[in-house]
Amino acid sequence: MGKIIAVANQKGGVGKSTTVVNLAAYLGMRGKKVLCVDTDSQGNTTTGLGVQKKTLKCSCYNVLIGSARIQDALLETEFEGVSLVPAVADLAGAEIELIELENRVSRLKAALMTCRTDYDYIFIDCPPSLSLITLNSLVAADTVMIPMTAEFLALEGLAQLWSTVRLIRSKYNPSLHLEGILFTMYDARLNLSAEVVAEVEKFFPGQIFETKIPRNVRLSEAPSHGKPVFYYDRSSKGADAYELLAHELLDEPLVLDKKPRGFIFSKK
Ligand SMILES: Nc1ncnc2c1ncn2[C@@H]1O[C@H](COP(=O)(O)OP(=O)(O)O)[C@@H](O)[C@H]1O
Ligand SMILES: [Mg+2]
Repeated sequence: MGKIIAVANQKGGVGKSTTVVNLAAYLGMRGKKVLCVDTDSQGNTTTGLGVQKKTLKCSCYNVLIGSARIQDALLETEFEGVSLVPAVADLAGAEIELIELENRVSRLKAALMTCRTDYDYIFIDCPPSLSLITLNSLVAADTVMIPMTAEFLALEGLAQLWSTVRLIRSKYNPSLHLEGILFTMYDARLNLSAEVVAEVEKFFPGQIFETKIPRNVRLSEAPSHGKPVFYYDRSSKGADAYELLAHELLDEPLVLDKKPRGFIFSKK
């Protein structure tokens, strides 16, 4: 039965969608069956996986409000092993419609229950808010992965998100665990980066991914080509970083050989 990982942070631009697209692509290349559920009306995961929003008849919106089954919204992407429940702009309206509906925080969970045995991993890309849609994701998930940038203001956001996770845990989903905190767009040369990591480590000991994702232009270019970084520039630092992260997630650590970068890996 697939593990469901919500990738959440109410702050925008911290690398949630980038993380979902690239982890999914790598795990798919490794023979895993992966489903990405795009719950953000901006649809960055949808675009990043090469799906044209204009052509879609059915999306995550229909699944959440109950006008379609998840099986009707599911698409195969052109990337090995990766399926997608896409998002389109109308998802923004679902937020208001959900308020009126029964079981308004457990609708995504109910939908995923009907397909989770078909996958090894299900990643839910959350919107940049602590909205009903994010609550649906946290109720449906086994774990939450929190991408964040190493800035001081990000710490406040983390505290707020964590109190939401605790609330969900106490009311709806007692088995929700923290998958880990992921530092993105990380610049190891800055003192501030290490200070923020140390601060987060104080509150979440042992919960920070060892892999830090560096700022890498290839990661930001890939979505405009509708491709995960592994299909856009396999030898980039961004691809290396997401490969290491995927192995950390799989609990199969890799050590990167220095030359040639990105191709030769050996087990620790
Ligand atoms: N490690 C990175 N290096 C460079 N650019 C990145 C990196 N991660 C994300 N980006 C870019 O930053 C922007 C925000 O990332 P995104 O994954 O969409 O964040 P979120 O989903 O949290 O809003 C996007 O333009 C993306 O391409
Ligand atoms: Mg996003």
